[in-house]
Amino acid sequence: MMKVLNFGSINIDKTYLVDHFVQPGEAKTSLKLQTFSGGKGLNQSIALALGGAEVHHLGCVGADGDFLIEMLEEKGVNTDYITKLSEIPTGHAIIQVDGAGQNCILLFAGANRAFETDMIDKVMENFSAGDWILLQNETNELAYAMNCAKSKKMKIAFNPSPADEKINDLPLNLVDLFFINETEGAALTGKSSAEDILDSMLGKFPNASVVLTLGKRGSIFRNANNNIAQPIFVTEVKDTTGAGDTYTGFFLANYINGVALRDCMQLATMASTIQVTREGAATAIPTLDEVKKSLMAIPIISEKY
Ligand code: RIB
Repeated sequence: MMKVLNFGSINIDKTYLVDHFVQPGEAKTSLKLQTFSGGKGLNQSIALALGGAEVHHLGCVGADGDFLIEMLEEKGVNTDYITKLSEIPTGHAIIQVDGAGQNCILLFAGANRAFETDMIDKVMENFSAGDWILLQNETNELAYAMNCAKSKKMKIAFNPSPADEKINDLPLNLVDLFFINETEGAALTGKSSAEDILDSMLGKFPNASVVLTLGKRGSIFRNANNNIAQPIFVTEVKDTTGAGDTYTGFFLANYINGVALRDCMQLATMASTIQVTREGAATAIPTLDEVKKSLMAIPIISEKY
């Protein structure tokens, strides 16, 4: 079985329920505060593990991060490559969630940006050709890790989230599989419509595959040989935090395990559909079994699962 090394952030999510997001100049009292495990890296590692992959998390936490490591372990993620730093706190996110389940997120990177290249070198010794590395944009030394992985002939999956002006300086030509939403697609291509983003991505990176998630309009997988669209499954939304991470982890786990593309998209879509009906990011991610059972309840696709 191919291994996945997820080089990713680990956060403490402070989630505040609000009736509307705080406006400039406004001070407001929230309705509820909950503390969850989060970080795009942690969420994606858990989704990968629950989706059926062998996943090793390369990450950093501070002295306050033990519960996050425990959570990763409980969900089946290998945590041997997580470093506990004494001087820097664990990264955190201040998240407002409104009544419609939408969120806005303010990040403090903390230990997530304390990586040094020799930490990456040491971990990479345990991976070889055909293994995958997954990266998001919440850690430092991304370019170094991408180059190092490619020199070992590993496959690279990249979710440039949250998008910033620096993502275009990365060696993106090394990436085998992109996971992007429209905001990230616009940052990478300067285009705004889904079709233009996909055309431009494949024009720039003709050997890559692209998964473009479109919120309520579903998702599209495209590479030189395939173009597959997957609609969403309708559900009642409680909290969308980590929905994209759930999709990424479930898609990648099944893709690596040789599952047909359309099925990878259905599994990933159903996983995030279930995930948004629950509060929090990582704790809300379903198991593969739950996902398959929910797909079985949909008559048109039930016979496959
Ligand atoms: O994608 C959701 C995640 O983004 C949250 O868990 C938060 O920690 C931020 O990293």
